[in-house]
Amino acid sequence: MSLSFTPLHPLFMAEVNGADLTKPLPEDQAAEIGAAMDRYAVLVFRDQDIDDAQQIAFGTAFGPLEAETATVDADKRRLQHAQMNDISNLDEKGQLLAADDRRRMFALGNRLWHSDSSFKSTPARYSLLHGRVVPPEGGETEFADMRAAWDALDAKSQDKLRDLVCDHSLLFSRGLLGFSDYTDDERRKWEPVPQRLVRRHEGSGRLSLYLSAHIGRIHGWPVPEAMAMIRDLMEHATQREFVYRHNWRRQDLLMWDNRCSMHRARPFEDRAYPRDLRRVTIQDSRPTLEQAAA
Ligand code: OGA
Ligand code: MN
Repeated sequence: MSLSFTPLHPLFMAEVNGADLTKPLPEDQAAEIGAAMDRYAVLVFRDQDIDDAQQIAFGTAFGPLEAETATVDADKRRLQHAQMNDISNLDEKGQLLAADDRRRMFALGNRLWHSDSSFKSTPARYSLLHGRVVPPEGGETEFADMRAAWDALDAKSQDKLRDLVCDHSLLFSRGLLGFSDYTDDERRKWEPVPQRLVRRHEGSGRLSLYLSAHIGRIHGWPVPEAMAMIRDLMEHATQREFVYRHNWRRQDLLMWDNRCSMHRARPFEDRAYPRDLRRVTIQDSRPTLEQAAA
């Protein structure tokens, strides 16, 4: 059966109808989803009653999955599969994380606008986030359209940005929240990596800003000047007209293209209600510096 797509925002984002993710994905549907991702950047599939293995199988249809998840205290994992990111407020026993738990502090970094795995030398292409348990209010996820944000810049600003290279690290994004409690091992693992600030989006040919809270420097710029400029650019790129807010329903599967969108989590009462979201992440083809220049 062929799929249909209903836009949920004037610029990007659509709801997909006609897919059943409990079953192996027919090739023609995988191609339709790929084309819709190039157009919309964010898709939601509603009412998908899938388990971890089915979510992993669906993700694999779009490319290699990231093997390692970026968490602290990984010895206390709740989930079985190494490729499954635990985007929840639960500990390894399924209890709400204690207020001062290091994993809770670290996960608060998701409240900052970011692009997944921009701190890895080959970053993420798609993320697939499934809602197993969602809180009664709050805990929305917001998305911002980075191709629209690029298009809205004047030509002079575009020229200034076009060839810039930024360093990204988890240490930079967590540093913005004052989190600095790392082991030597984590510091080594999360050494900054370079990424283009402007990318040509492969599937659409359009240019896109590649912004993320993980940015901590721009090559060739003094740090305060770089960070002041990045902050201005973040404000520009996350104006309400570029933003879609997703109100979660249980068994929603959200799929987004990290090459041309940013996202962030919104607050909820995480000491009162469980929120159990799980993510698989598809790797991009190569480091952004090895991809087409803008
Ligand atoms: C993610 C993420 C936001 C949220 O899964 O990568 O940033 O709302 N999630 O939990
Ligand atoms: Mn994320």
